[in-house]
Amino acid sequence: MCGIIGYTTRKNNSVEVALSGLKNLEYRGYDSSGIAFFDGEKMDIIKSKGKISNLDDKLSNFNTNSCCAIAHTRWATHGEPNETNAHPHQVGKVTLVHNGIIENYSVLKDELLKNGYTFKSETDTEVAAAYLDYCYSKTQDKLQALVDACKAFRGSYAFDVVYEDEPTTIYATRKDSPLVIGYSHDGNFAASDISAILNYTNKYSLIEEGEFVKVTKDIVTFYNKDLHEIEKKSETATWDAAQYQKNGYEHFMLKEIYEQPKAISDIFNRYYTNCSYKDLDFSKFDKIHIVACGSAMHASLVGKYLLQTYGKIPVMVEIASEYRYSEELITPSTLLIVVSQSGETADTLAALRLAKEKGAYVVGIVNAVGSTIAREVDKCIYTYAGPEIAVATTKGYTSQVAVFSTLALMAMEQKGLLDKNIEKLIKNDMLNIEEKINSVISNREKYLEIANQIYKHNDLFFIGRGIDSTVCMEGSLKLKEISYMHSESYSAGELKHGTISLIDKGTPVISIATDEKLFEKTVSNIKETKARGSFSIFVTTENHIDNCDEFADEVIILPKATDFTEPILTVIALQLVAYETAKLRGCDIDKPRNLAKSVTVE
Ligand code: G6P
Repeated sequence: MCGIIGYTTRKNNSVEVALSGLKNLEYRGYDSSGIAFFDGEKMDIIKSKGKISNLDDKLSNFNTNSCCAIAHTRWATHGEPNETNAHPHQVGKVTLVHNGIIENYSVLKDELLKNGYTFKSETDTEVAAAYLDYCYSKTQDKLQALVDACKAFRGSYAFDVVYEDEPTTIYATRKDSPLVIGYSHDGNFAASDISAILNYTNKYSLIEEGEFVKVTKDIVTFYNKDLHEIEKKSETATWDAAQYQKNGYEHFMLKEIYEQPKAISDIFNRYYTNCSYKDLDFSKFDKIHIVACGSAMHASLVGKYLLQTYGKIPVMVEIASEYRYSEELITPSTLLIVVSQSGETADTLAALRLAKEKGAYVVGIVNAVGSTIAREVDKCIYTYAGPEIAVATTKGYTSQVAVFSTLALMAMEQKGLLDKNIEKLIKNDMLNIEEKINSVISNREKYLEIANQIYKHNDLFFIGRGIDSTVCMEGSLKLKEISYMHSESYSAGELKHGTISLIDKGTPVISIATDEKLFEKTVSNIKETKARGSFSIFVTTENHIDNCDEFADEVIILPKATDFTEPILTVIALQLVAYETAKLRGCDIDKPRNLAKSVTVE
């Protein structure tokens, strides 16, 4: 989703710095970019469709010495990705960049048209710029104009604004979209997240909803919604710039896959040594709802399986954008668990706010430290997996699953369901996870061999039962996200109720059967596809490989583990199959088309 950065400095390098910040925001997903900079007389605006390198190329034709710049990566919502729709937008005395959506922009546009404003683009943001200019023309006070405009805006926003008559000051505010202020030796920043500024500083402050900020090269002043000055603490980021580099890996996705052994074993080690959420008492709640989007929702399904099967607690998992339609089920005795890597996903945030309104207790499983969701939940369980740059999540997902495994274990303990032998088995499993993940990752040749068999196909199916069917969903999503192959995930027993009609000679079917109890039934379903000519790729554990030649053309063998870690091992194999397949198809693995890492609009 859109990323913004503004920088005002004592030097003349604001364009270079803002551009390097934009590059660090690329991971959020975008389809055009732009920058406005003060050239000594006025704000120049340069925009470009496609990659930031196109913008960079264009800028090389200009004198970009400048002490103040605001820049933007746009992920199109209102109007196609082109230069006219790209930000910054300039209307009258106002130049601004925006992350979010102004939902009532057409009503405001009508009002502005009546007042003589004209528009070049199809965007809600140009309307926001015009409306701010309109407010400024009335009050002649820059902060007050921003307050007045924001009162009229419905929707979400993080704005960096520069006024023509004060071209080296950035005014900023936010609602439902992230924004941080950064402090460096040479100047100050207002950016979507810390990654944008980490090359220059790790000192930052978070802006709360409805606060306003005036950023000059020397000083940053914070205001509350009534424009009273407020004090802000400065914080120090623990993530450093090196974590935003590929460090020799061909892609961020591959680097992040290789970071999983440590990320997951850290979670389990922390659980056994210094667990911050052991005080969560499940007996206080009559039900658990888990709400998330995308891969985080898939991790939630693993969580549901573990909490229900082992913790004997009924759990409902809901896609965040649909949760509001279950409103009547939310009560003060509901435990809502929201799951989000970025901590900024708009639908998940809306779900958490709704549940809080209804009196529910909300726990977050979040990776991005200090993110909005992390700050708004009653209790935050951080996954501490470090920054994830590739749009397709890998360590983000597995670390969420790992946290759920520990929660299920806690539920068993609290309910007296954990006998000594099982406890020992699970502990041993969790504390040896690093070695097992490494052995899955080391099977790269096999994943490449499979990728070579499937990459020319247009359709592919994943099937499994029980906990394996939840992993199928994530394996399938990973493949379609980065390779653009059509892939569907089906519960193995359900395939025959319609979708099996799509299985033809050579159609690849990836089946997962790691669960002892369900093994035979899944094998029967695989045979049903094989009888229709499927190319069968079988994913199973080392104790299950006898006689699988009968129904498998390829086999991925995983180490045997308990249900508390097996989904992690399985999905990592599937991540690598997706990775190798996307590579063979020549796809842009880290930045797949149309996708955004941080989805800050509903
Ligand atoms: C986007 C990303 C997905 C992610 C989902 C939820 O769609 O592309 O990879 O799973 O958002 O993101 P979150 O940050 O809330 O986990």
